[in-house]
Amino acid sequence: MEQPDLGELMSGAIALRQLGKRYGRKWAVRGLDLVVEPGQIYGLLGPNGAGKSTTIRMLVGLIRPTAGEVFVWGRKIGVNGVAEDGGVGALVEGPAFYEYFSGYRNLAMLAGLSKKVSGTELEWALHQVRLWGRHRDKVGSYSHGMRQRLAIAQALVPRPRLLVLDEPAQGLDPQGLTEVRELLKELVAQGTTVLLSSHLLHEVEQICTHVGIIAKGELIASGTVAELLASDEGYEVTVASAQAATAALAQMALVREFSQDAEDTFTVWLHEDEPQQLNAGLVDAGVGVKGLRKKRTELEDVYLQLAADEQPLLAAAGVGERGEAP
Ligand SMILES: Nc1ncnc2c1ncn2[C@@H]1O[C@H](COP(=O)(O)OP(=O)(O)OP(=O)(O)O)[C@@H](O)[C@H]1O
Ligand SMILES: [Mg+2]
Repeated sequence: MEQPDLGELMSGAIALRQLGKRYGRKWAVRGLDLVVEPGQIYGLLGPNGAGKSTTIRMLVGLIRPTAGEVFVWGRKIGVNGVAEDGGVGALVEGPAFYEYFSGYRNLAMLAGLSKKVSGTELEWALHQVRLWGRHRDKVGSYSHGMRQRLAIAQALVPRPRLLVLDEPAQGLDPQGLTEVRELLKELVAQGTTVLLSSHLLHEVEQICTHVGIIAKGELIASGTVAELLASDEGYEVTVASAQAATAALAQMALVREFSQDAEDTFTVWLHEDEPQQLNAGLVDAGVGVKGLRKKRTELEDVYLQLAADEQPLLAAAGVGERGEAP
């Protein structure tokens, strides 16, 4: 169907309309419609080669779309449009740091590339990512997590209303991941909108309010994390005695519904997500519980399948010509 012409304005922090990018004969991204509203932490989730970085590069004006349009804060942008706008901070390719320079000096140089920045702005960004105090140390002495935070600091310097981060959690250990998550939550509490990409469902689930799943260049699902992960699959319970379990499950107020799937296996749906109470209830009723696990949501199945299908695409990637500076 023909889309109505909405002119130069579109609502939302980000609106992508029928966005596409073709390399040679292959569409890296195709027909992408996506809206991020102010205040969201939107996770673009997809396996390697899905088109996340390509989408983000178009979004921040690093590469030119083959088709479709990008709107940021209601304004249509072209190549370099976002950088001039000031409303967006981005971490796309992890910036290369000078190992022998301090974090502060690296940040000053990176930030100085786009415009003149003051010491106050740099200090604020370093405080945000909790590197103030270590900012005089050489980057060579930084851990991976600290480098990642410095990279995020660089995106924060213009105090953007919209922060766009390509794989911000890449390579972080659980501690680093927690730090990045806390940082993003704080920024959102201060009014920042965030779009990030990740290939890990678990990460997106923990950090984001909204998620879009991209596979082979196309958006195949989107919604709130709660919507997409809403598990109505129930719990799988393996018991020693099916008869005793049937009687006990029928008595329990917590149990909404149950079905027997096999000799010793039941699926149990609960009114409240309290599996430990289910376990305790069964044990109290004298039922031996051999196993209890949450059944996977459809989304997880879909996503795991996608990730498993994904083959290394080096041959198709046009290795060595990824950069496409305007
Ligand atoms: N400059 C380029 N030239 C040719 N093909 C490219 C180029 N950049 C990306 N592609 C192709 O576009 C597809 C999407 O790549 P993209 O980097 O956007 O994926 P991604 O989702 O970011 O993957 P990853 O999780 O590995 O970072 C891939 O098939 C890739 O090989
Ligand atoms: Mg990528």
